[in-house]
Amino acid sequence: MGITVGVVKGNGIGPEITEATLHVLEATGLSFDWVPVAIGDEGVKKYGHPLPQESVKLLREVKRAIKAPLLVDKFKGRLYCEHEDGSVGVYPSLNNAIRRELGLYVCPRPIKGIPGISGNYEKLDVHIMREITEDVYSGIEHMIGDYAAECTKLTTRLAAIRVAEYAFQYARQNGRKRVSCVHKANAVSMADGLFLSCFREVAAKNPDIPSDDFMVDASAYFMAKCPEKFDVIVAANQYGDILSDLAAGLVGSLGLAPGANVGPDGLIIAEASHGAAPDIAGKGIANPIALILSGALLLREMGYRKEAGQVEDATMRVLSWKKAMTPDLGGNASTMDVARAIAHEMRQAER
Ligand code: NAI
Repeated sequence: MGITVGVVKGNGIGPEITEATLHVLEATGLSFDWVPVAIGDEGVKKYGHPLPQESVKLLREVKRAIKAPLLVDKFKGRLYCEHEDGSVGVYPSLNNAIRRELGLYVCPRPIKGIPGISGNYEKLDVHIMREITEDVYSGIEHMIGDYAAECTKLTTRLAAIRVAEYAFQYARQNGRKRVSCVHKANAVSMADGLFLSCFREVAAKNPDIPSDDFMVDASAYFMAKCPEKFDVIVAANQYGDILSDLAAGLVGSLGLAPGANVGPDGLIIAEASHGAAPDIAGKGIANPIALILSGALLLREMGYRKEAGQVEDATMRVLSWKKAMTPDLGGNASTMDVARAIAHEMRQAER
């Protein structure tokens, strides 16, 4: 029997980068049982809902999954998920609903510069721990007539402590040297103030790992000017969302930024930082590396450290030696060319 991993193919470039990712993961020599999970259009087709409870249950059962990006409509903003006990979850987007229905609470996004590719940002090496259950993405918003809208920025002690604890544990387990909290506690003194004070409370219990904090605007400046200031970052949902796209842009492409959604009981859904990129979908030119590296992250979490390292090392070699690069990195390779080049490198290294 193989290793069971759920697969959400997603929309836009999703199916293309999923095929590439599964190709590379299979080149580790591990045997996988890929379990398709119907979400988005597939969920609607099969069960009449973009996030069917059947799929939520399946993800809870398999515990580990690879999820490609999903298209989310602008302006629609409400998804209702009815539970067996009659309760209803209301979410602002499909991605937010997946995370919250499953209790996934932190999205680690390790973003690293690549020699020969990332120019001035070759040394950028930042791991962003994005809180993914609260903040302005809680879905607590409403119109005031047609002349204004109000949106609540939610911060709870539980979520702020939980993400900070995860960050210090992550830093320790991954040999990282510093944890920084990103906030705007001078202007949002209660919500971000609480986030920062919870961070400081957790930092005080982890004196072996140095910590500090920065305002989010200054963080964007430092990320662009001297990214070596950062090692592990803990941020509320929106700041983490924005800073990880910024870091991806600095190292060369959104197609280089992996991630995962982590929850309790070993639940983990590997997912690239980027979206469904409808502007390049169907052309076979999407960069699959962010999802491939997310797959490596998943392997490491599952205890397959050697295989995770194989995928990461081969990816770095293919990129630094410019063996296969998609157009976002200035090359003309296809999505599958990149996957095949990485798989080839993995096999060469095994010899
Ligand atoms: P996006 O991340 O899809 O694209 C932004 C830009 O980066 C585009 O020019 C795109 O071509 C490029 N890009 C992204 N990934 C790439 C890759 N792997 N290779 C090469 N180029 C890549 O963001 P956008 O355009 O704001 O959103 C498009 C759709 O994706 C929306 O419906 C949005 O809601 C959804 N989305 C889904 C996410 C998810 O499922 N986790 C996350 C972010 C957005």
